Amino acid sequence: MRIAVAREVDANEPRVAATPETVKKLRSLGASVAVARGAGLASGIPDAEFESAGAELGAEVGRDADIVLKVRRPTEEEMAVYRKGALVIAMMDPYGNEAALAAMARAGLVGFAMELMPRITRAQSMDVLSSQANLAGYRAVIDAAEQYGRALPMMMTAAGTVPAAKVFVMGAGVAGLQAIATARRLGAVVTATDVRPAAKEQVESLGAKFIAVEDEEFRQAETAAGYAKEMSKEYQVKQAALVAEHIKKQDIVITTALIPGRPAPRLVSQAMVASMRPGSVIVDLAVERGGNVEGVRPGEVARVGEVKIVGYLNVAGRLAASASALYARNLLNFVDILIDKKEKKLAVDWDDEIIRATLLTRDGAVVHPNFKAKT
Ligand code: NAI
Repeated sequence: MRIAVAREVDANEPRVAATPETVKKLRSLGASVAVARGAGLASGIPDAEFESAGAELGAEVGRDADIVLKVRRPTEEEMAVYRKGALVIAMMDPYGNEAALAAMARAGLVGFAMELMPRITRAQSMDVLSSQANLAGYRAVIDAAEQYGRALPMMMTAAGTVPAAKVFVMGAGVAGLQAIATARRLGAVVTATDVRPAAKEQVESLGAKFIAVEDEEFRQAETAAGYAKEMSKEYQVKQAALVAEHIKKQDIVITTALIPGRPAPRLVSQAMVASMRPGSVIVDLAVERGGNVEGVRPGEVARVGEVKIVGYLNVAGRLAASASALYARNLLNFVDILIDKKEKKLAVDWDDEIIRATLLTRDGAVVHPNFKAKT
């Protein structure tokens, strides 16, 4: 059983799908591991460390691999290298990319999308959305603090008092809750909002104040999978009025709101941005799915008047070493269920709930129900 760890071809992707620690563990499952030269450099892992962990290094890996571990969906050039029937495990970004999924099917690959991991207890250690969102939530506050020209904590000095910054977190899922905790640790006064009622208690348990339109629709807004639904126009109008009133008193706003398979909800309008005080900072973590904030520019710090809107891409990748360490463990835990440990060979249980939820392509076809009909 051969496992290959690719070097990411996207220049904006510093993460890597394995670490020396996970290479050792993959080998103890009975696999040989090949790592592409330089794959870990941007995450602070030199080739020599992979080698000491027992990996073979190569310029091109994957040609004879049974499993290919990646961060991002392979390009057609990469797919052409892998052998038919190889399992490719990555963050496939499947929504809206049906043509790329069809190409993966045509290449004869067995593709798994880690971001489709079901939110069940057994799969928690494989949940890449959680591991990466947690880091992004932390980093969003650090990025906001860097752009903000004032201190976050209240400081009482002989020269006078600096007031605590007011931070408003919109969307209190994994990223939002970590942003709340980080902003609180830095001494900010934190408020937060969400459309799922379960978020209220979680926000309050972190010492932040919960602000939301708590009507009947709010009480029904969580899906069985734990995600938010797209809210009605009526709800959006009520929410916008509440946010407009609140946001003008804030110094820092961090937005994290997402709806699986849909564009990010637009929560902050241009008028709301304009109502904020000069020097205020907004960080939009939803920028890759269209953004929560009007005027956000992907990969840039946009200025609207005297307000900055931070639209950095791949925010988890801004903590590449930590992000790779957690992502690599998520993949290791997933690979673990694909292997028969006694026989030391691949033994995929195609009926397993985790496999069914994440499997995109097999035997030359797109097989996932969410993407099958559209290709
Ligand atoms: P997400 O990344 O899809 O969305 C981020 C947040 O934005 C969510 O809390 C969502 O409710 C909120 N949001 C969506 N539309 C909004 C709107 N119009 N206005 C305001 N907020 C809006 O969600 P994430 O972070 O992946 O987590 C969703 C839930 O799943 C959380 O309750 C989390 O604790 C839970 N979860 C469960 C896991 C498990 O059981 N294994 C693992 C990870 C998360």
